[in-house]
This record gives sequence, structure tokens and C-alpha cells, in this order.
Amino acid sequence: MRAAAIIVAAGSGDRLGAGLPKALVPVAGLPMVAWSARALAASPEVECIVIACPPGGEAAMAAAVTGHAEVHAIVPGGSSRQRSVAAALVAVPEDVEAILVHDAARPLITPRLVSGLIARLPSSPAVIAAAPVADTLKRAGDSGAVEATVDRAGLWGAQTPQAFQAQTLRGVFADADDAELDSATDCAGMAERRGVPVLLHDPDAPNLKVTTQADLRLAEVLLGTGRIA
Ligand code: CTP
Ligand code: MG
Repeated sequence: MRAAAIIVAAGSGDRLGAGLPKALVPVAGLPMVAWSARALAASPEVECIVIACPPGGEAAMAAAVTGHAEVHAIVPGGSSRQRSVAAALVAVPEDVEAILVHDAARPLITPRLVSGLIARLPSSPAVIAAAPVADTLKRAGDSGAVEATVDRAGLWGAQTPQAFQAQTLRGVFADADDAELDSATDCAGMAERRGVPVLLHDPDAPNLKVTTQADLRLAEVLLGTGRIA
């Protein structure tokens, strides 16, 4: 399938606290967003990349990906992740059959993962990277003490990329109102709400999200050495 990829990179990275947008923070020698742009550009199915960046940060974003990927458009993002997806979606060419949405905060994305998602897309309107929850889950009470152990059977952690048949993703966003764009945390959740079946696809490789400084150190190690392709 001919695919476009959206990289959402418009967040500020408050929890990382690096003093610059998280997507631009260096990881193993490259701006974080460049790892995702590279992997998507190296994926044979992906013919177009659109990036949502912090408003006013277009030139800095372009500089961060130059030499790593041909980018179709860099657009100002919105005040929530899903508003940033909506802004980027407008710039995606009409003729693609598939659209992937990916967080710049997940620099361990690989062409193998992208191809694995797109390969399952013809028979399903949506396929997302996700991993079964491995930890035993506890629900905390107000005091910070354990209130209950939660059965983890059947629970998965949703990741990105999230891949959609193009008309499915466009339809979901055409139907969404401002409140949903402010509150939803991923595209799959918006699709599920409309009855779209969403397949889970285990990357079988680390695909961590960089949120904190500890995550950043781990990503440095994984990207700098021993990377699983
Ligand atoms: N994102 C975005 N537009 C926003 C908010 C987030 O494009 N208004 C993107 C981020 O750039 C990131 C992804 O959505 O690639 C996931 O968000 P998160 O990890 O929360 O990143 P930040 O919002 O930048 O971090 P924080 O919440 O710590 O400020
Ligand atoms: Mg955030």
C-alpha cells in the first residue's frame, strides 16, 4: 500500500525538561525526530512524510531532519497531540492508501515495524504497535498505598506507529469535535469509539517512549549500540 506518515513533534517536552522541544533533543548524536524521519524514509511503502512542529519552529524542525529524510510538509501543530495530528492530516496528499501516525518521542521505530503494520492493513482498517503488559498492575489509593492488584490478562500498552487505511483516519477526524481533539490521547482510541476494529501488532523489539531523562539515557544506549533492526 502507498503510505504517508505523520510525525507528531509539536510537544514541548515538559517532563523531559531539556529546555527545548523534545523532538529536537539530541539522542545518540541526532535530534530525536531525525531517528523517526530516517526510519520512515527508509520504509519502502512510505512515500510522503508530514511533520507537526511547535508553532514558529518550522525552520528548526526542517534543520533537524535535513539529510535524514525528504519531508513533504512541516506544519504548525496544535495545543493537544490530536490537534497536531489533525493539522498534519490536512497536508497529507489525497491519493495515499494508508496513513501512519507516529510520535517523535519514539525514536526506536524501525522499517521492519512500519512494514509489519502496513502488511496487515489491507485486511483491517487500523493496525497499531502495542505490547502486552508485562508488569503486575496495582491500583493506588489516595495515600499512595496499594488499593488493588489489577488483572493484567488481555491488557496491552498502545504505542506508535498507528497505521490506518487513509479513508478511515480521514473519516474519524472529520467526525471529531474540539472536545475530543482536546481529550483523546491516540488516534486508535478515536477510531475505536466509532466502531472501527483495531488490530494490535507487537513490535517484538524495544519501542520505548522518551518521557523522562531516564528514558532518554536508555534510548541513548539502545540507539547507540546493539540496536535491534
Ligand atoms: N505532541 C504534539 N502536539 C502536542 C502535544 C504532543 O505533536 N500539542 C506530540 C509530541 O511531540 C510527542 C507525542 O505527541 O511526539 C507524544 O506526546 P508526549 O510524549 O506527551 O510529548 P510532549 O507533550 O512533548 O511531552 P510532555 O507531555 O512531557 O510536555
Ligand atoms: Mg504531552
